[in-house]
Amino acid sequence: MILKRPAELDIMAEAAVINRQALEAVERAIAVGVTTAELNAIAEDAILAGGGTPAFKGYNGFPATLCTSVNDVVVHGFPSDEPLRAGDVLSVDIGTLYKGYAADMARTYAIGDVSDEAKALIDASERSLQAGIDAMRAGNRLGDVAAAIQAVVEDAGFWVVREFVGHGIGRAFHEAPNVPNFGRAGTGPVLRSGLVLAIEPMVTVNQTAVDVLEDGWTAVSADGSLAAHVEHTVAVTDDGPWVLTAPRASRASERGTSTTNAAQWADGRADPAGR
Ligand code: MF3
Ligand code: CO
Repeated sequence: MILKRPAELDIMAEAAVINRQALEAVERAIAVGVTTAELNAIAEDAILAGGGTPAFKGYNGFPATLCTSVNDVVVHGFPSDEPLRAGDVLSVDIGTLYKGYAADMARTYAIGDVSDEAKALIDASERSLQAGIDAMRAGNRLGDVAAAIQAVVEDAGFWVVREFVGHGIGRAFHEAPNVPNFGRAGTGPVLRSGLVLAIEPMVTVNQTAVDVLEDGWTAVSADGSLAAHVEHTVAVTDDGPWVLTAPRASRASERGTSTTNAAQWADGRADPAGR
């Protein structure tokens, strides 16, 4: 595991701001009838305007700036010319490289009116991410993060995807360690100050396997279950978890606190998820 010095964390925080602002530009455009290809173009323009470069585009041949994963697509969906429809559940995953460092985040949006089940799924995924963040304290173990995420998801009656995991992040946007969203508290490596993880629970309505389509990327639930995916880039500091990809409005108060919670999303904009 690679530990980052404070000066490196500051650069990663700048990468995260560019990434975050690009996702906010995408959020402003999300609506029924918009295509995910249009959202992808908005994201790419925003990252470049911010001085960064898209982290995903060209990574192992991935073709786009965004992963856009609709309904039963769990992760790594390709942006397409298919318009979004009312009732869709859209996960948007975005990564930025800046001054040699990476930031990675994802959110899931309700498009128009969605089912109560879809709302509950999105809510559980966000709460599980927050539980994982809260466990990112020096001296805790990686299994504490995993178990915290899993407990929230399962208490809500949903299923944690096993086939994909979060990851360390820094100069490379995938570094050791793998960060599973399931596991046992008190197990695994000890977390130390300077460790940065991309925590990214992937949640399905039912217990199901995840299959990858012939394009080599698109990961779908085998049983057609709706899926949600949320992600933050988070540093362990002596003062507690620092959510690098949190909204700017709450950034000052993020550092050294565990006050990140659902309210962090309430940053004064209309929320496309309708919450
Ligand atoms: N957040 C995802 C991940 O960590 C996004 C990767 S898309 C890829 O795996 F194309 F870049 F792989
Ligand atoms: Co990631």
